Amino acid sequence: MSAAPLKIGLLGLGTVGQGVIRVLQRNADEITRRVGRPVVVTHASARDTSKAREVSLDGITIVADPMQIAAGADVDVVVELIGGTTTARDLVLAAIARGKPVVTANKALLALKGNDVFGAAREQGVMVGFEASVAGGIPVIKAIREGLAGNRIEALAGIINGTCNYILTQMTEKGQAFADALADAQRLGYAEADPTFDVEGVDAAHKLTILASIAFGMPLNFDAVAVEGITRVTPQDIKIAQALGYRIKHLGIAKRTPDGVELRVHATLIPEDKLIAKVDGVLNTVLLQGDAVGQMGLYGRGAGGDATASAVVADIVDVARSLGSEARHHVPALAFQPDAVVELPILPLEQVSSAHYLRLNVADQAGVLKAVTGILAEFDISIEAILQKEPRGGDDATVAVITSVVTEARFVDAVSRLLALPFVREDISRFRVEHF
Ligand code: NDP
Ligand code: HSE
Repeated sequence: MSAAPLKIGLLGLGTVGQGVIRVLQRNADEITRRVGRPVVVTHASARDTSKAREVSLDGITIVADPMQIAAGADVDVVVELIGGTTTARDLVLAAIARGKPVVTANKALLALKGNDVFGAAREQGVMVGFEASVAGGIPVIKAIREGLAGNRIEALAGIINGTCNYILTQMTEKGQAFADALADAQRLGYAEADPTFDVEGVDAAHKLTILASIAFGMPLNFDAVAVEGITRVTPQDIKIAQALGYRIKHLGIAKRTPDGVELRVHATLIPEDKLIAKVDGVLNTVLLQGDAVGQMGLYGRGAGGDATASAVVADIVDVARSLGSEARHHVPALAFQPDAVVELPILPLEQVSSAHYLRLNVADQAGVLKAVTGILAEFDISIEAILQKEPRGGDDATVAVITSVVTEARFVDAVSRLLALPFVREDISRFRVEHF
């Protein structure tokens, strides 16, 4: 094919940036056949331009200042793979301002500043592709925005942070310590530049913000998400959950209810025989409930250079195919026409209902179990499963229960009462339970 190449300006040459170069080089023929012309990276930026990279940079102009590319270089598409919400925002807006389509993997930017970014893109009539921002290589944005466009989407839930899933899997399957598993996830290129974003649930909340927006047609609203990470998950809880027939996973959940939209990310006990409980390592999954399609699921690698590049390159191909077409013919960024994206009431966390896992360490004395079950009964909380472990060598005894479905507010009140019992130690543990 002799058409002029599509010129890419790549901002960032880290895990994902290098993955994009690798995939574009390896699959150059296939991609050319799909687009109708070659796709080549002509410009790229990195803070350290002298650092050795794992890919060939032959023919690419490398600069230290990404703004030179975003605001000035002769490129057709700007691909932002730097991360963060300050520099990246300026770069993306600069590219949009001069009418360049943008592709980004930056979920933090979109969750926090996406309404501005998409507004600017609309004014300029340019596309912003962000498939890689959620669940790495899984084409979940395209599935929701296009494949499920005939549905009213009622709910979605998924494992949407590869680092958390990798850590929990390593702790569960290999007994690896949390810190060692996190260090491995960083070495493998899964973690964010600041890994507390992963382990404290913030990255998953960024992604859930995006998913909820395109699933329900609501504006991006990161502040509405209830955020918990995996730092409270102990080896003891993992073992007890296993003994009770559950796995602990970090989930993002978005659900329409008659009283508002539930938006939450947290560690969750899931029955071990459910498919989602078997999604391990860096793999992600997103389960969706549409009124027409029913339940469906997507599954694949949620982080890492090549997997994420798969989604970035798919966006580049989409952009290339749409160049020259009128903006009104583009798929709307947030799936719904901009004037039809509407605020929806958010269900406060206290009103969210779910089952709970509760683990108490208690002094070994008579009547403990009776007192614990008595307080739960007082709050009308049934016990679905219970496990008691005798003390070993002077340790406290352990009592763990799985409760019936109860509102957060009622459960919190019951836990306060339990904590006030003289024989209950302070190091209790509690996680929500989902049965799917
Ligand atoms: P890396 O940290 O590996 O790479 C970041 C790149 O940006 C590096 O080349 C770095 O330069 C450059 N850079 C960093 N800060 C600046 C700055 N202030 N100014 C200019 N250049 C800068 O990140 P990743 O590739 O892992 O992630 C990139 C984006 O993709 C992020 O938004 C991330 O959330 C997202 N993402 C990452 C996934 C993954 O699996 N890693 C998966 C999905 C999305 P230098 O190399 O010289 O340090
Ligand atoms: N840090 C992210 C994760 C990268 O572990 O899922 C993919 O978005």
